Amino acid sequence: MKIIIIANRLPVRIERNDESFSIERSEGGLATGLGSLETDTEKFWVGWPGIHTDDENEKETITQELHALNFHPVFLSAEQIENYYEGYSNSTIWPLCHYFFSFIAYRTDFWEAYKEVNALFCKEALPFIDNDDIVWVQDYQLMLLPKMLRDKKPKISIGYFHHIPFPSYELFRVLPQREEILEGLLGADLIGFHTHDYMRHFISAIYRVLELNCTLDEVMLKDRIVHVDTFPMGINYELFHHAPSLPEVKKKAAMLRQQLGDKTVILSVDRLDYSKGILHRLNGFAQFLQNNPAYHNRVSLAMIVVPSRDNVDIYADLKTKIDQSIGEINGKYSRLGWTPIFYFYQSFSFEELIAMYDIANVALVTPLRDGMNLVAKEYLAAKSNDSGVLILSEMAGASIELQDAIIINPNDTDQIEAAILQALNMPLEEREQRLQKMQKKISHRNVKKWANDFIDELWSIKTQNQEILQKIVGRRQLNQIKSAYDDATSRLILLDYDGTLSPFVDNPENAAPSEALLNTIRELVADKKNKVVINSGRNHQILDKWFSGIELDFGAEHGVFYKENGVWHKNLQEEVIWDEEIMDILHHTIDKTPRSYLEQKETSLVFHYRKVDIWLADLRSQQLINALIGPCSRLNLQIVPGNKIVEIKPSDFNKGSETLRRLAQDTYDFILAIGDDTTDEDMFRVLPPEGISIKVGNFSPIAKYRIPLQSSVIPFLLNLIKR
Ligand code: UDP
Ligand code: G6P
Repeated sequence: MKIIIIANRLPVRIERNDESFSIERSEGGLATGLGSLETDTEKFWVGWPGIHTDDENEKETITQELHALNFHPVFLSAEQIENYYEGYSNSTIWPLCHYFFSFIAYRTDFWEAYKEVNALFCKEALPFIDNDDIVWVQDYQLMLLPKMLRDKKPKISIGYFHHIPFPSYELFRVLPQREEILEGLLGADLIGFHTHDYMRHFISAIYRVLELNCTLDEVMLKDRIVHVDTFPMGINYELFHHAPSLPEVKKKAAMLRQQLGDKTVILSVDRLDYSKGILHRLNGFAQFLQNNPAYHNRVSLAMIVVPSRDNVDIYADLKTKIDQSIGEINGKYSRLGWTPIFYFYQSFSFEELIAMYDIANVALVTPLRDGMNLVAKEYLAAKSNDSGVLILSEMAGASIELQDAIIINPNDTDQIEAAILQALNMPLEEREQRLQKMQKKISHRNVKKWANDFIDELWSIKTQNQEILQKIVGRRQLNQIKSAYDDATSRLILLDYDGTLSPFVDNPENAAPSEALLNTIRELVADKKNKVVINSGRNHQILDKWFSGIELDFGAEHGVFYKENGVWHKNLQEEVIWDEEIMDILHHTIDKTPRSYLEQKETSLVFHYRKVDIWLADLRSQQLINALIGPCSRLNLQIVPGNKIVEIKPSDFNKGSETLRRLAQDTYDFILAIGDDTTDEDMFRVLPPEGISIKVGNFSPIAKYRIPLQSSVIPFLLNLIKR
């Protein structure tokens, strides 16, 4: 077994030198974080080598060199780099996910290229994937890939991690390809985000765009459950923590110190990106200089901006604006022996970067939006004796964990100024305490833990999905059930109605049985070995009406009524008179919930919310249940949440009690119960061990088998009785 990481970028990039190529470290959180990950399992990485060539010999040379490192390069044409990488990835998805609405490009050629390159990654990766491997797709450039891989290799375990924010549905909905993107992601078994907010937004988009059934952390598909969870990414803490004592780093730090003089150093490190808030930060620093002349000649900002995506116009414009702003500030405040801002528009080597972290007294990390921000964690890890202060934007995913930083809103220039002052004046003891607390957290939640947690969860999901698959009634399972059916001499067949024999419809009164269903029931009943019972929550009048002319037994209103030998019986002697408080609560809820309504049966009340907006329905049903607990327990009534309903009914009877009553009447050598709802699980629970329970729809741990689609129930019954 091996872990195959598929990411747009390899953790190294190939650079062309005069006659040859060199291999350099890639920048960016994904590559540095995952690149420094050590695993016990063999790792193989598929990704773009960051260089463009059309020369087949060059491609071959690069491929050979990278294969020796367990990396496989995916080469992109100039057009693909433009339309897939700079285009759809970085001019559509990136601004969308970072809330830069007006920067989003809507171009069909970008989308076409995105699909094409995702398919190319799929083709390139497949030859390296064995069935027992774990495939871990990384980030927003490859959101269609999980489904593409799943279609080709349905049995492999696929994880996806989203390294950037996932926006609220209100923004995500603007994306023309929103369905395809979400469906692409759902090819994975596990989808990970840095923070709970991103995860919430994702689930909300799934609900609303694809209208799939979801819980807070699961998406129900026909044959699988997709799990969604948060895994805040960490760094290789030990590496960064010990690096300042490396001789090479010490040498560099001494050189830097000499160049920067005896000034207090505030450090900022970012890729060139509008999401990083570099201009806002410069404004904040300018205001600090303006209002605090006492710090002139004493404090300098060292600003590292790593070149990135500079072929995208917005990035090139940003570079111009940064240059201008720094020029203005330095022009205005510089004096002999003091430069307010040291500006480095270049990539730093690992040793240089650590030396910078080492000498910096304060780190100013103020992105407008950032999935995580690893620079903040790296800075903290690299600090030792002379502790440093971290100023961190609340818009960075890292701020959730690093609450001991000075947390600011990066749009607020006053706050940036105040935070700089607070950092410069923080007493040593407080600096040390804050640093130690944060170091403890990030040393524990390191990149290894991040990856292990993700992979462990992926494994357990694989086992769970295998169980789910095994329960599905396919040919093998059907043959088992059918041979038990054929061998039997006396059979009890209990069938739920809504969602099992008949599909759900907006208005329950329109759920009359189809001709196909009536014929199937007639055939079942015609076999004298069969005792067929429709065990439903419906009222007895409607069941009688719909199945008139068929000699059939019923359980109605969840076991309060039953029909045997053509005669209806009622278990409950006294008449149910609905308590005023309960009615008030229900009417109040319905008034506040557009498109919900009340169904009043002889012995139960039902709050229906099938057509209500999903979040409102969740809220209202929870509120309703909470409000009903008091009066219902006083009156010995049961509150039963069901499929888009909440039902209030006498607690002594349910579909299970009706099943037990039937079982006590006779001996059967074949017992089958089929149902789709939580109330049907009451039947499943009371079946004897040899009984066959089948859940329609989602997975239920209580049922022995599962039929994922309601439309497969009649065909299943027909197969059962077929001679
Ligand atoms: N980095 C680098 N060379 C540099 C500056 C930064 O390799 O000259 C690395 C830095 O160590 C960090 C990453 O780039 O790991 C930036 O990650 P972050 O999560 O902060 O931001 P991202 O670039 O992913 O948006
Ligand atoms: C962020 C993204 C990564 C990306 C990195 C560098 O960290 O989440 O997927 O690799 O930025 O960006 P680049 O466009 O240079 O790969």
